[in-house]
Amino acid sequence: MNSKTFCVAPFIGVEFRKNGRLGPCCRYAYIKKDVDWNFRNYDQWWEEYLTPMREELLNGIEHTGCQNCWRDEQLGIKSYRESLNEEFVTYTNLTAPLPAPIHQMYNYGNFCNLKCIMCSPFASSQLETEFKQNKSKFNAINVDYQFTTEIKWFRTDEFNKSKQKLLPGAEQILIQGGEPFLSPDVLDLFREIQHPENVILTIISNMTTFTDEIVDLLSKFKHVRLVVSLEGVGKYNNYLRYGSEWDVIVSNIDKSLAMPNLDFSIAHTFQRTSLTCWIPIFKWALDRNIPLRTNILDHPMHLSVNGATAEEKNAFLHDAVELYNVFNNEYDTIMSDTGYKPKPEMAIRFQRLTLLSNLKSHIERFKTYVESVVYNHDDNLQFWRYVDLLDELRDTKLSSLFNTIHRPV
Ligand SMILES: C[S@@+](CC[C@H](N)C(=O)[O-])C[C@H]1O[C@@H](n2cnc3c(N)ncnc32)[C@H](O)[C@@H]1O
Ligand code: SF4
Repeated sequence: MNSKTFCVAPFIGVEFRKNGRLGPCCRYAYIKKDVDWNFRNYDQWWEEYLTPMREELLNGIEHTGCQNCWRDEQLGIKSYRESLNEEFVTYTNLTAPLPAPIHQMYNYGNFCNLKCIMCSPFASSQLETEFKQNKSKFNAINVDYQFTTEIKWFRTDEFNKSKQKLLPGAEQILIQGGEPFLSPDVLDLFREIQHPENVILTIISNMTTFTDEIVDLLSKFKHVRLVVSLEGVGKYNNYLRYGSEWDVIVSNIDKSLAMPNLDFSIAHTFQRTSLTCWIPIFKWALDRNIPLRTNILDHPMHLSVNGATAEEKNAFLHDAVELYNVFNNEYDTIMSDTGYKPKPEMAIRFQRLTLLSNLKSHIERFKTYVESVVYNHDDNLQFWRYVDLLDELRDTKLSSLFNTIHRPV
């Protein structure tokens, strides 16, 4: 086995995507579009498609569909492949793949109440409606989407048959969406799991809804990993995750933190506006001892850091260095204190040093990433066309919030 390319995902995992298509994990990108692998040909996909992929990854070949992981690794960011391999390090059955994957991900369509700036109509029904009602305006700035006709694939008999076969084998179930906590089908799925006490559940949510019914359902699982997506604090949240209110999210987060079987983390999608918002959200999370994971925006490129000017990048780099120095000074102070400490104090000291070291490397990675991005003027122009249209449709104004993002002259 070649550890530089090996990934456990095609041995243990399946993802049912928002449109009913299949993937071994959520980061996978098909290159050849010759076969439409979807919930109808699940068995054939598990055998025919995944077998050569497994062989490539075992034998040192960078399988093309795994490009998102190779990119992250090149940027020095921990890839999903590395995280999965770490989590399933004891899984060694690499010759006879399982009859049912133990790592199962379900995305039941695009039902969602928000219109996040970087998201798409494929993941948000609100964005789908906004796009369809204003198609000519989006097309005029070269933004278009082709929709599949079968949107409620997860209510078909064919999917139900596969699900009945797969669910009993699940050790981990992952749900995103759309917005999972708003979907009656997702809540039904929670109820269908016969032994939730044996299952680890991971949910990615916008946390605008967290009812007592949801708390009750979640409390039955062996463990819940709740990942809440946040792009900014306060008014920045309300603009970037349009349709949400910061105070409501914070109060729902507080409610979830009281659950004993739940651990909580934040996911941030690093994009152009992150040059302003990432450090404040990072500090907000740190003040509450909440871990933060940062992913780089997949698409569209005009919302990425590519279109950011030197002024925006320099402001970010300045703040990043400042924050790095704060952590570094504390790290050095703790290290310089070499006097005798009782055991419990030593353990706390060790924990703090580990945390500070992780924080320092997290900042360093994103500092290096921002420094490496080459300015693209077309992406900058398209950024403004896109946000101008969103601002017009939503009666908002990006420039009144972001004072380092200026319109190109
Ligand atoms: C599509 S959302 C669905 C779950 C839920 N509605 C939420 O927002 O957490 C899943 C994750 O994808 C992220 N995401 C949205 N648009 C993205 C993009 N263009 N590139 C990368 N990640 C993106 C979101 O921030 C979120 O963490
Ligand atoms: S809440 Fe999630 S699915 Fe909804 S628009 Fe935002 S990122 Fe997309």
